[in-house]
Amino acid sequence: MNNILAIETSCDETAAAIVADGVAIKANIIASQIATHRRFGGVVPEIASRRHMEDIVPVVEEALATAGLAFPDLDAVAVTYGPGLVGALLVGLAYAKSLAYALDKPLIGVHHLLGHIYAGFLQYPHLPLPAVCLVVSGGHTNLVYLQSHTERRILGSTRDDAAGEAFDKVARVLGLPYPGGPELEKLARAGDARAISFPRAWLEEGSLDFSFSGLKSAVINYLHHARQIGTEVNRADVAASFQAAVVEVLVAKTIQAARQGAARAILLAGGVAANGALRGELTAAGQEAGVPVFCPPPILCTDNAAMIACAAYYQYLRRDFAPLDLNAIPDLTLY
Ligand code: KG4
Ligand code: ZN
Repeated sequence: MNNILAIETSCDETAAAIVADGVAIKANIIASQIATHRRFGGVVPEIASRRHMEDIVPVVEEALATAGLAFPDLDAVAVTYGPGLVGALLVGLAYAKSLAYALDKPLIGVHHLLGHIYAGFLQYPHLPLPAVCLVVSGGHTNLVYLQSHTERRILGSTRDDAAGEAFDKVARVLGLPYPGGPELEKLARAGDARAISFPRAWLEEGSLDFSFSGLKSAVINYLHHARQIGTEVNRADVAASFQAAVVEVLVAKTIQAARQGAARAILLAGGVAANGALRGELTAAGQEAGVPVFCPPPILCTDNAAMIACAAYYQYLRRDFAPLDLNAIPDLTLY
């Protein structure tokens, strides 16, 4: 059995996981820093790095204890090397490189977004290809065509804010705590999605790109205007109407991409994939289009190291190992 230990420290979660043969999660430990960053309304990079330094050793120890394994049982050490906060990434990298060197085991450098995509293969190892993957996280929004495990291409990307960033910023103006996405979803459940008609950015005919900054501004203007004329705002309606605008565009463009590429599957990935409205509407639209939709469980959608271990397993199979001078690349692009 192949046991890969993966480390993920790209943002505000110190995570370590052990996955066997790319499918069996033996441990998936996540030390979240949400409580630390909440009072600042967002992630403070320097504080994140320091917390990773405090947490990395106990988190890995807990992963080994949960899996019932010791260091010599590991076959490889995987680590996220970008994109992300440079100081945060460096903590995970320094740990992973030292461990790989000490154990004399291969080091595998994993792209964070590829990790999000492989949450899908961790949950559904037989997911049919070619597939279209919608990657929606706090920093990225991409439509990716997955031809095989080594060939992929970007079909569309956001031209401004990422979907998660839009959720977080709108949540903030609605007075919700950080991180805003899940809080906004909770509030939206009590609202009417048709109450306010916010704009949908379809962009040029046929474009698979996204744009969310206009929608974000429309929400801010709506709230300002209401305040100016002294009318009461139904915050739940605003949240539900905003969420509906984001979801409608994400779903329509994903289905369009799947049709154009004759995809055999649609995969949803990234932190925003935890959103119930997006999961529900994409699944329904996929059913209508005759393309099965795969949504990994929310715990594998938001940042975790099990997804990194799964992506690393496919790299392990083709001996795609990293040198011990692997560096953090904060703006690493998806290749
Ligand atoms: O993938 P992720 O955990 O970290 C990044 O790589 O960015 O994504 C975090 C993003 C945040 O913007 C967060 O607000 C959003 O995902 N998010 C959600 C939900 N859960 C997390 N957005 C909408 N609804 C959710 N339930
Ligand atoms: Zn992420």
